[in-house]
Amino acid sequence: MNIEVFLTEAEIAQEFVESIEARDLPEKFFYWFPRSVRAWLELAQNSVTSGLRQCWEGLDNGALKLAAGDDATVSVVSLGSGDGAKDRVIIKSLEGAGRTVKYFPVDASQTLLELACSAAEDAEIETMGIKADISSPMHLVLASDAAESPKIFVMAGNTLGGFDPLDQVRHLAECMHRGDRLIIDAENSYETVLARGDDAAVRRFAMAPLATAGVAEEDGELRFEHKRDERHAGLHLITRFFRADRDLTLALPGKHTLPRGERVLLNFRYACTPEAFRWLLAKHAGLKILEEVRSADGKSMIAVCSRD
Ligand SMILES: C[S@@+](CC[C@H](N)C(=O)[O-])C[C@H]1O[C@@H](n2cnc3c(N)ncnc32)[C@H](O)[C@@H]1O
Repeated sequence: MNIEVFLTEAEIAQEFVESIEARDLPEKFFYWFPRSVRAWLELAQNSVTSGLRQCWEGLDNGALKLAAGDDATVSVVSLGSGDGAKDRVIIKSLEGAGRTVKYFPVDASQTLLELACSAAEDAEIETMGIKADISSPMHLVLASDAAESPKIFVMAGNTLGGFDPLDQVRHLAECMHRGDRLIIDAENSYETVLARGDDAAVRRFAMAPLATAGVAEEDGELRFEHKRDERHAGLHLITRFFRADRDLTLALPGKHTLPRGERVLLNFRYACTPEAFRWLLAKHAGLKILEEVRSADGKSMIAVCSRD
């Protein structure tokens, strides 16, 4: 297995301790611990994520042809690849259309990256994993430069919604060259994302990093809240936080406590209306939308974009 490392385990471990002290856990930690990986894989098969899954499975050959252009060989660079299940559907379709694909899954989670690489290798896809922080513009450039053009960048599973979408989509667009494509999805219904707070698997996923540090949901309150991002109409943010109901000692190296009443911000998720998603890609990031695919339930969409 070939994995290039731009983000080390030691760096992630150090950042986790700093994030616990800051009471604000970024997205990457929700896929990093073994308990988180287990919770995520369970969720990835769960009915709450089925709309997005079906949307990718329904990506038709026309959309993929637009994405692949006419070149015989294409690099697929999946940013926040997870276990790569959605990427393999695309790659198999591209190969079925006669393309040779080189696959570059990019993720901060060593375990998920290994899953993506080994499943791709089993499917005889030429693969190089990249362990990097996709919220860092520098790492995005390094990951992008590892692959030869023309490239198809993939950002699937509402990965965009785990970051500030305005910053993230701009940094992503800056990595694209003439002939490259981006296939990216969004969830359109904030009500649906908010309602997931009632699902036991989603709550396990949200609590997993704290549970690794010995905190149970019963030790406090786990809440999901909705806010509007006033920077543009149609941008909705679902935040999650945990508030301790008693003084807690965290099972982490060093002496870390979470006093009664204190809150830890957990990862958030954006949802955006179709209009806001188009605005983000086209007006804000300067991309051209070549094709849109909407899910059957109308709650998610995929856009195929170019820079030229
Ligand atoms: C919502 S999941 C989507 C996974 C996959 N694309 C799918 O659709 O099933 C987000 C992925 O992004 C990765 N991730 C989160 N924050 C990251 C970061 N800062 N740098 C790199 N990867 C990150 C996670 O490990 C996870 O695999």
